[in-house]
Formats: sequence, structure tokens, C-alpha cells
Amino acid sequence: MIKALPIHIQQVVKTYGRIHALDHVDLEIKSGEFLTLLGPSGSGKTTLLMVLAGFTRPDSGSVRFGDREVIRTPPHKRDVGMVFQNYALFPHMTVAGNIGFPLRLRGVQKDDIHQRVEHALSTVQLDGLGDRRIDQLSGGQKQRVALARAIVFEPRILLMDEPLSALDKKLRDHMQIELRRLHEKLGITTVYVTHDQREALTMSDRVAVINHGRLIQCDSPRTIYDYPASPFVANFIGESTLIPVKRSNGNVVLDGQVLKVSGAVPDGRCSLMLRPERLTILPDRRNPDYNVFPGVVEEVVFQGESFVAYAVLESGTHVSMRGISQRETVASLPSRGKAVLLGLHWEETVLIPEANEDAPG
Ligand SMILES: Nc1ncnc2c1ncn2[C@@H]1O[C@H](COP(=O)(O)OP(=O)(O)OP(=O)(O)O)[C@@H](O)[C@H]1O
Ligand SMILES: [Mg+2]
Repeated sequence: MIKALPIHIQQVVKTYGRIHALDHVDLEIKSGEFLTLLGPSGSGKTTLLMVLAGFTRPDSGSVRFGDREVIRTPPHKRDVGMVFQNYALFPHMTVAGNIGFPLRLRGVQKDDIHQRVEHALSTVQLDGLGDRRIDQLSGGQKQRVALARAIVFEPRILLMDEPLSALDKKLRDHMQIELRRLHEKLGITTVYVTHDQREALTMSDRVAVINHGRLIQCDSPRTIYDYPASPFVANFIGESTLIPVKRSNGNVVLDGQVLKVSGAVPDGRCSLMLRPERLTILPDRRNPDYNVFPGVVEEVVFQGESFVAYAVLESGTHVSMRGISQRETVASLPSRGKAVLLGLHWEETVLIPEANEDAPG
């Protein structure tokens, strides 16, 4: 097991002309943690990874690996393994040649290189493929070679930039589990970049959501999903409808109804988050654990294992609810034009502060 290192990122700024690629980013990554940077295209994910790898020098701020400030340290002296989005393999070299490259760069003895390359090959389950040329490999195999090359010198930090984006869905799902297993086995502090929210939730110990170069929220997948810190996070991760609520005598009110809410009520303006799978169709208003939203069904769509019902609430807000297609549920679904009572359990009634941090900087 490699001795992992924590990463301390403080007030990192990187501008390109008028673009704030990174806008005062503060992030503490724990030793041995699998942390994912998640954000839309152009949000600054690759820039932050390149700052960690040493290929991009920030305008200001500090990056420490353990106790060591690394801002001025060149990439090959940072003890960092990197998997690039396009693999960046050397096409004229064999698989073994590619994987051994970082070791030759570091002046490791030939016999030792051979042994460590073999070991890395078996770690990524490519035993026996060392003599193949890169252009004789499938996408998934190339991805594994890139990974083996990143870990062969036993770095204490592993950086991956959308490593699975070129793979088809099935292979991607498989590699997600494999990468996660490898992380558990090696225990390397890992920073992973993706713009795929499902991938981020599946793989990570914590997810750092960034937008316009700013860190918006960094939390566990569950917390990010259940308690998004802003409308941007609520909309970017999962589906949700946000409905502004009113305050009255310390209560939170929607359509004249006092809501029972879970967690803290944020100061200032906020919205109720309605996630489709958290809504249920209630037979009546009797269950006191539920907030009830009366509406009219607009459409019900059967999707195989699940169904989606679209409804419009009294306030005119359009919402959707998703359910699992069990026989009885499907049989009792209301049809178009019918009145429904949509219920949201108070424990899933979460308010999202209306933040201005989502605005472009
Ligand atoms: N070398 C550069 N010169 C000028 N602008 C750059 C450069 N590199 C990045 N940028 C800009 O900085 C911002 C952040 O880019 P970055 O590549 O970090 O985004 P990203 O989150 O990785 O996006 P994607 O998901 O599309 O890969 C973008 O607006 C981009 O255009
Ligand atoms: Mg990128």
C-alpha cells in the first residue's frame, strides 16, 4: 500500500485574459480519498487538474501535497500519476514501452523496469499484452494502459481527466467499478474529473461541484444529492423542480400551505426542491408525515421499469413524479386531466437557498 498524501488547495486563481478559469478555489482533499471534480464544460475542471499536475502555473494561491508547497515543482518531481482524457499514449511504442516510460524517465534499472511493468500490467488485467502495439488495442485496453502508466511508479497522488468518456456505456460502467476497486487496493489520493453526474455519484468519496471556476459545494454523494447547496447543484445533479416559497410568522409557506421541512431553513430567499422520485401519489390527505400538493395530471408516460407522471400544481407550476412500475401502482395510475394529490414526505422536504454564487464571475 502506497503512503497517500493529502492535498491542500488554497485561494488558487487562474485567468486567461478576461476568463476566470479558477476563481479563488479552496479545497482540502484527504489522504487516500477519491474526490471527483464535477462541472459543466468550461467550468475549470481540467485547469484545476493541470494545476495539481504541474502543467499549469496558477496566477496566485497555494497547492500543498502534505506539508510540501508544490507550485514551483515541475510535473515529473511531483510524485503524481496522470491519466489524460485522450490517453496520450505513444503510438509507436509497445504496451510495455508505454508503461515503462515513466520509470525510464526516473532512471530506474532495466530489470526493475521489467518487473514493475509486469506488475502494473497484471494490476490492470492486461497480463501477456506487453508486446502489443497500441494501435492493436481496443478503447478499454488503451484506457488500462494509460492507467498502468500512471500508477507504475507508485505515485502518491493519481489524477484522471475524464478517463472513461471515450468508452461505450457498458464498458464505462464496468471500468467505473474497476477503477473504484483499484483505488481501494492502492489507497492513492485520487482526483477524478468528469462532467457525468452519475459517474461522480457512483465512484466518489466526495464530489466537488464547480461552475465558472468556482467551487460551489464539496460533499459526499448523498449530501450533494439530498442537500444541494444552491439551485445550480440541485439542477446539475439529478432532476428537480425548484419552487420559490414564502415566509410567514417563521413558517415556510407554499400555495397558502405551511410546509413541514427537514433540516435548517436557510436565511433569505429559498426554494422548495421537488425531485421526481421523491414524490408519491397519495390516496388522501390523512398522513401527517406528508406535505400535500394538489394538481392535475397532464400525462403519464410508461418507461418500462419506471413511469413518469407530469402534473400541474394549483400555482401553475409543472412538476414530474417518477415511480417504479409495479403491477398495482401502474394499474392505479390516474389518467390525463384527473386530479391528484402529490405527496412529499417531510424528511424529504428540503429548501435550497437562492444563491448568487451561481452567476458567472
Ligand atoms: N490555454 C488556455 N487558453 C485560454 N483559455 C483557456 C485555456 N485553457 C482553458 N481555458 C478556458 O478556461 C476555462 C476552463 O477550461 P477547462 O478546460 O478547465 O474546462 P473544463 O471544465 O475542463 O471543460 P470540459 O468539460 O469541456 O473539458 C474555459 O473557459 C476555457 O476556455
Ligand atoms: Mg476538461
